[in-house]
Amino acid sequence: MSEFEGKTVLVTGGGSGIGLATARRLVGAGASVVLAGRSSDRLEAAVKDLDAGDKVLAVPTDVARTGDLDGLIAQVQQRFGRLNGVFANAGVALSARTADVTEADFDQVVGANFKGTFFTVQKALPLLGDGGSIVLNASWLVHRGVGLASVYAASKAAVLNLARTFAPDLAERGIRVNTVTPGHVTTDMFDAVTGGNEQVQEFFRSQVALGRLGQAEDIADAVVFLLSPRASYITGQELVVDGGLVGSVPS
Ligand SMILES: NC(=O)c1ccc[n+]([C@@H]2O[C@H](COP(=O)([O-])OP(=O)(O)OC[C@H]3O[C@@H](n4cnc5c(N)ncnc54)[C@H](OP(=O)(O)O)[C@@H]3O)[C@@H](O)[C@H]2O)c1
Repeated sequence: MSEFEGKTVLVTGGGSGIGLATARRLVGAGASVVLAGRSSDRLEAAVKDLDAGDKVLAVPTDVARTGDLDGLIAQVQQRFGRLNGVFANAGVALSARTADVTEADFDQVVGANFKGTFFTVQKALPLLGDGGSIVLNASWLVHRGVGLASVYAASKAAVLNLARTFAPDLAERGIRVNTVTPGHVTTDMFDAVTGGNEQVQEFFRSQVALGRLGQAEDIADAVVFLLSPRASYITGQELVVDGGLVGSVPS
């Protein structure tokens, strides 16, 4: 499949998990990808893993810092000239009772998830042209009230809402914007949130109608679809990819 031949897609948080799985799918479909994340080691390992030569550019970036995003976009422009797609995927989790959330926690989560998503899109706009596609990454927690998730869930609700408003704002430039909403996906973030505890992970699995935890590739396939011309009449939408987690009652 070479649906993305000659196209370039920016993937924030592309060094691991859902971002890396999406980059792998995109490279497999002929795309060049730009990976952005804070850890250089992580990015280096991802570049090695993708093994796609000059089709992969990795740029250490903290999406919560607009100066970093300016540097990222400058490097993309220099190397590829333009972008055809953006997957604003970088995010951090926070599992804490409301009473225990510190200002630093709040700033970190809102900085990466909300501010980072907003400015990733804003800074990428000059490189995106007609036919461009943007996918944001929200979370199933937008749809369920979970006591430990106040700041994280609200930051992802902001992300979901951004896609709704970006869509009409950018439509006149021929750019589509959609959100993917993952359920429980076995990544580093999932391990951190569950503390690697098998009983907790089994409880999470038991909430999923399809009876299994998600894999990063499950989300990547949905993202690649939304980025592709096959989704050319879809904008402002949320694609929930959760095995039936939020839409059903466990039995
Ligand atoms: N796994 C799940 O169950 C699940 C469910 C719903 C939604 N999600 C969302 O899916 C997205 C990807 O998470 P994942 O599950 O694939 O976990 P992950 O492997 O931990 O990926 C998160 C990525 O974001 C990057 N990142 C974090 N803060 C950043 C920042 N300030 N600037 C740039 N990059 C940053 C991390 O790299 P560095 O640390 O190197 O920066 C990492 O590569 C997140 O937005 C998450 O909220 C995950």
